[in-house]
Amino acid sequence: MSALASRTAPLPGDIRAMKGVTPIVSLTAYTTPIARVVDEVCDLVLVGDSVGMVLHGLDSTLGVTMEMMALHGRAVARGLSTAMMVIDMPFGSYEESPEQAFRNAARLMRETGAAAVKLEGGVHMAETIGFLTARGIPVMAHVGLTPQSVNMLGGYKVQGRDGDGERVLADARAIAAAGAFSVVLEKLPASLADRITADVPIPTIGIGASAGCDGQILVVDDMLGLFADFKPKFVKRFASLGDDAAKAVRAYAAEVRARRFPGPEHVFSDKSAKSPG
Ligand code: KIV
Repeated sequence: MSALASRTAPLPGDIRAMKGVTPIVSLTAYTTPIARVVDEVCDLVLVGDSVGMVLHGLDSTLGVTMEMMALHGRAVARGLSTAMMVIDMPFGSYEESPEQAFRNAARLMRETGAAAVKLEGGVHMAETIGFLTARGIPVMAHVGLTPQSVNMLGGYKVQGRDGDGERVLADARAIAAAGAFSVVLEKLPASLADRITADVPIPTIGIGASAGCDGQILVVDDMLGLFADFKPKFVKRFASLGDDAAKAVRAYAAEVRARRFPGPEHVFSDKSAKSPG
């Protein structure tokens, strides 16, 4: 029986044990109402630092702070009961030293109740991942396109092409050996993602990677179609909520201007017994 079927929140060890058994379903969430919606279907919910771009209008994830992550983490935790919550460590909160990473990871877990943290980086973060896991902090790693390094990578390009695949494979091997319980593979050629999935003993969670990964993740606002003007190739829109929202607010404005809203059913009479609410 999968962790999802048993309806209790899986722990990092349960997610790890799903490799080769059943695909891991994950999405991001940043708010309580969306957490309530995705909880039902997800094994794992990520409070991603993509929150900075998706909800706060930032150009990149570099401006995301610990305070933002803690605030959104607490909001998401209120909406989850059966999915495991993982929270992103924001840029600048973990790269300096293993001790800095421990302090900030412990703070995020303490303040939000997340079961694990996610951080970006491969070989160069292996020591930190080992330090955290030895001290009780489960770590999900993230290799391939690592958005916090956008300035070094020269944009949000596909990684691991033109002979660069060995470097990404080495990253995945290093973080698995260091004790990460899973790894996000972002924007890689499908053949490389398949090779890494077959090579490492921990689940790979793909985003712009391959259907052969051990699981998939998408930014929830992307797959719900909340943005009209932004659709990376790897996103499939399962709804068009942005269009629906635009239609709804246009209808509201028209009804207010025509004095059709509020209708009789939305207003209160002066007789308290007959007008509950
Ligand atoms: O921040 C985020 O949403 C992520 C996912 C894209 C994996 O890191």
